[in-house]
Amino acid sequence: MPDSHFYITTPIYYVNDQPHIGHAYTTILADVLARYHRLLDVPTWFLTGTDEHGQKVQEAAVRNGLTPIEQCDRTVVRFQDLWKKLEITHDDFIRTTEERHKTMVRKALQELYDRGEIYGADYEGWYCVPCERFFMEKDLAAGGVCPDCKRAVQKLVERNYFFKMSKYQAWLIEHIEQHPEFIQPAHRRQETLGFLRQPLTDLCISRPKSRLAWGIELPFDANYVTYVWFDALMNYVTAVGYGADPATFAKWWPASYHLIGKDILTTHTVYWPTMLKALGVALPRSIFAHGWWLVGRDKMSKSLGNVVNPMAMCEQYGVDAFRYFLMAEMSLGNDASFTEESFINRYNSDLANDLGNLGSRVIKMVHRFLGGTFTAPVAPGTDEAELVKVTAAAIESMQRHLTSMQLERGIADVLAAVREGNRYFDKMAPWTLAKQGKTAELQRVLYSAAECLRIVSGLLYPVMPGKMTELRRALGLAGDEIEPHMATLGAWGGLPAGRTLSDVPPLFPRIEKTELKAEPGTERQTETTAKTAKTTDKNPAVVHELIEIADFAKVSLKTAKILTAEPVPDANKLLKLLVDLGTEKRQIVAGIATFYTPEQLVGKTIVVVANLKPAQLRGVESQGMLLAAKSGKELRLLTLDGDLPPGASIG
Ligand code: MSP
Repeated sequence: MPDSHFYITTPIYYVNDQPHIGHAYTTILADVLARYHRLLDVPTWFLTGTDEHGQKVQEAAVRNGLTPIEQCDRTVVRFQDLWKKLEITHDDFIRTTEERHKTMVRKALQELYDRGEIYGADYEGWYCVPCERFFMEKDLAAGGVCPDCKRAVQKLVERNYFFKMSKYQAWLIEHIEQHPEFIQPAHRRQETLGFLRQPLTDLCISRPKSRLAWGIELPFDANYVTYVWFDALMNYVTAVGYGADPATFAKWWPASYHLIGKDILTTHTVYWPTMLKALGVALPRSIFAHGWWLVGRDKMSKSLGNVVNPMAMCEQYGVDAFRYFLMAEMSLGNDASFTEESFINRYNSDLANDLGNLGSRVIKMVHRFLGGTFTAPVAPGTDEAELVKVTAAAIESMQRHLTSMQLERGIADVLAAVREGNRYFDKMAPWTLAKQGKTAELQRVLYSAAECLRIVSGLLYPVMPGKMTELRRALGLAGDEIEPHMATLGAWGGLPAGRTLSDVPPLFPRIEKTELKAEPGTERQTETTAKTAKTTDKNPAVVHELIEIADFAKVSLKTAKILTAEPVPDANKLLKLLVDLGTEKRQIVAGIATFYTPEQLVGKTIVVVANLKPAQLRGVESQGMLLAAKSGKELRLLTLDGDLPPGASIG
């Protein structure tokens, strides 16, 4: 990533409807990345905005009995209000109906036309109204429908203007092949290269006004408006002074990242680079396509009534928790599933139990035993070695994963440092040190735990700016110290002495599951119980199917001690375990080899399903199943909170 600047963009959002979790996700991700780069002292520019022309917006205006610009003016504030609520720190918000944009789009079109890069011709093709795209017959999906949205297409013949996109095909393939960072993640790069294996056609960049009046008029033919994608993509350059302010443009362009959703890959990785090439403008460094948020296992859609409203989520659970969940839960590049249950689980485990708990214990004990203040920073000793190590690893991991766009992994390592903080605190038991009058040790333990908090709160600051500000204030930081500086964050001993720590209300009060009645973020919240119940079959991950106690009683869960563990030949994910069930020994085959080594397992007491029919896994018999919890790419075995002999029944 060029250190000279960091220019990040989100897609510009259509103003035909209100913002949903997908819009919120990309914008929060851009915000987190922008905030990190600012804290790394890299000059940063963060652009978002709205896509206000085209058929979708015109149709929404008609539906709502408004003029198109009234429709835009009304909807744009919903996005702007949401960004305010979500603490988005964009430097600019571009609307494609603004003069600064329209003038430069016209200038670019005229330039391309004058140079013969745009020409007029008759066009016959299949047109998809919702997608606003023409398709050739061979590109239609089975049944002759739109390959993207699978809806009916219409045959149209009309005179139009075309951009000579086809002539850049070989050049584009070469650029993509020579710049692996240009399209990320790698599977999206393969997708674009696959698309480019077919002959590339020229791009129709006009729409006759007779069909669509709402757009930027072509400078060389007043009977046409500009195709909305040509208009929209240009926002990334017009917002930073393209054609109007060369100094600003030179400062920010090329963009470091265009963040997009996977559905708008072709427009960004084929149309946009060829347009820039024709205009003689450098290409963005990277286009990063993230996956989609599903609701449970379903696609989010109005017709399913499962559209997650980010405003409602923030109101119910707080902005920071919502930001945290979205960033921690989605493995960048893949689809992720949103359910309120997974939100609450992650909130309770990461934020309430781990981070919030460490914060409140440390601060409380500094008050109880040290009068609320540290008299001097205390150097770490051997007892702190692990804590210092894991905390330093969190800093390194966060920075590395920011560069590799695997933010969720950086966050997971920061949480590992929080958990180490809690372990350290339990192990050192400052309350006992206080009782024993070991003042120097007590000072060191509390100071070290507070240092861990200072560092993790700094690392999580871009993700949860509000709550981390509260935590850092509570630790006695003030003024300029609230915003962490990544370059100095890791220096142990950064927490100034002589400050009074303030009492804070719990940062993340636990959410009791019984509060979960319906999904507050979705439209279902307002539906009747009967209707909610009806949705159970369709979407079991969202509305929970209930079972009788008798159903649960059919499962025999038992504790088992692992006696031996060894790999299964030719199956690199499987381990074969011999477990002691108290009255008998069993062989269990489990897909845990990527998470545990055999040495880590031997001696552990785990939980197994004891009355499962035996099954063959890769030709090896498994006489039961062990229980493990999985979240994203992490897996942890269920173990006991204390010692019990093997064969104890669970229920
Ligand atoms: N206006 C165009 C973008 C032009 S950029 C020059 C557009 N707008 S959009 O409002 O329809 O979509 C904006 C973004 O939201 C896209 O990146 C799309 O992938 C994303 N999402 C829409 N639904 C989504 C989810 N369910 N999950 C995550 N992102 C999703 O396309």
